Amino acid sequence: MPLNDIYSAKFTENVKLSSLTTLCAGGEAEFFASPSNAEELCGIIQSLKGCPVYVIGGGSNILIPDGKIPGLVISSRKLTQIKWLNASSAEIGAGYPLPLLVKTLREKNIGGLEFAVGIPGTLGGAVSGNAGAGGKGVCMFADSVKAVDPSGDIITLRRGEFDYGYRHCGISGAIITSVVMSFPDGVSWNEEEASNFAAKRKSQPLDSHNAGCTFKNPEGHSAGKLLDESGCKGMCCGGAVVSDKHANFIINRNKATSSEIEELIELCALKVYERTGIKLEREIKPFMPCFSVK
Ligand code: EPU
Repeated sequence: MPLNDIYSAKFTENVKLSSLTTLCAGGEAEFFASPSNAEELCGIIQSLKGCPVYVIGGGSNILIPDGKIPGLVISSRKLTQIKWLNASSAEIGAGYPLPLLVKTLREKNIGGLEFAVGIPGTLGGAVSGNAGAGGKGVCMFADSVKAVDPSGDIITLRRGEFDYGYRHCGISGAIITSVVMSFPDGVSWNEEEASNFAAKRKSQPLDSHNAGCTFKNPEGHSAGKLLDESGCKGMCCGGAVVSDKHANFIINRNKATSSEIEELIELCALKVYERTGIKLEREIKPFMPCFSVK
C-alpha cells in the first residue's frame, strides 16, 4: 500500500488485533492507526490509495478473522473527547467508552440511557449497531453523527438523515468520529430502571471472553431461548463454547481461533434452523472494510 510520507509515521505495521477484542481472537492488521481527531483521520485517508479501511472500537461485538488483514485498521481509542453543549447535550468522540458515558449521565442525573447499563464498548460502536436492550437503542438520542467518508472529507448526518432500527443505524461507508447525544430536558436518571436492566444482565456470562449476544432476537422470539431449547448450551468447537448460563453467548474458553468461533456460530444457527425453521441473524459483526480508498 503506497503511503504518503507525512502520514507513514502515524501507522504501525503488523499489529495483533486479538487483544483489542473482548473475544480475544483474530489475526493482525497489515497497517494500524489511532488518530486523535477527525482532521487527523481525514489526512490519513487522503494519503491512501487502493486500500481497504476497517474500523475497530471497543472490539466487543466483532469477530476478526485469523491471519493477516490486508489494509488499514483504524482504532477509535483516541477519539475520546466530550464537549457539553448545554445541560443535556454533548458532542462525544466515537472512542468514548459507553460505560463511562452511562456513569457520567447517572452522576449528572440525566435520564435516557438506563437500558445501556452494563453494555460494553465505545459510543461509536454502540451507535453503529444501535446497541440497546428492552426495545431501546442508543440511536434514540443521537442528534447528529460526524463521520469521515472515503474521500477523506468530514460529513455530518443529522437526525432523519440516517435510518436506524433494531441493531442497525443506517450509516455505512463512513467512519464515525463523534456523535452529538441529546437527552430529554428535565428527565432524571431512573435508578430503578437501571437496576432492572443490570439485574437482567446477571443471566449473562459477563466475566468471560465473549462478544455479547451472538444472534439478534427474531421478531416475536428470543434467540437465547431458541438456542437453549435446541440444545446448544455446552456445544463447543476447539476452545470456543456456548455458555451454560446463556445460550446466546459464545465464550472463548481456551485460546479459540476465530475459525473455531465461526464454526460454532454456524453450528448453532443450523441447530435452531433444523428444529424450528427459523434462520437466526447474527448480531456479532463480521470484520468488513468500512470502505476502500480508490
Ligand atoms: N433464555 C433461555 N435460555 C437462555 C437464555 C435466555 O431460556 O439460555 C430466555 C430467558 O429466560 C428469557 C428470554 O430467553 O425468558 C429472553 O432472554 P434475555 O433475558 O437474555 O433477554 P434478550 O431479550 O434475549 C436482550 C438483548 C441483550 C440485553 C438483554 C438485557 C438481544 C439479542 N439481546 O436479550 O443484548 O443485554 O436484552 O436486557 O437483543 C447484546 O446485544 O449483546 C445483548 C446481550
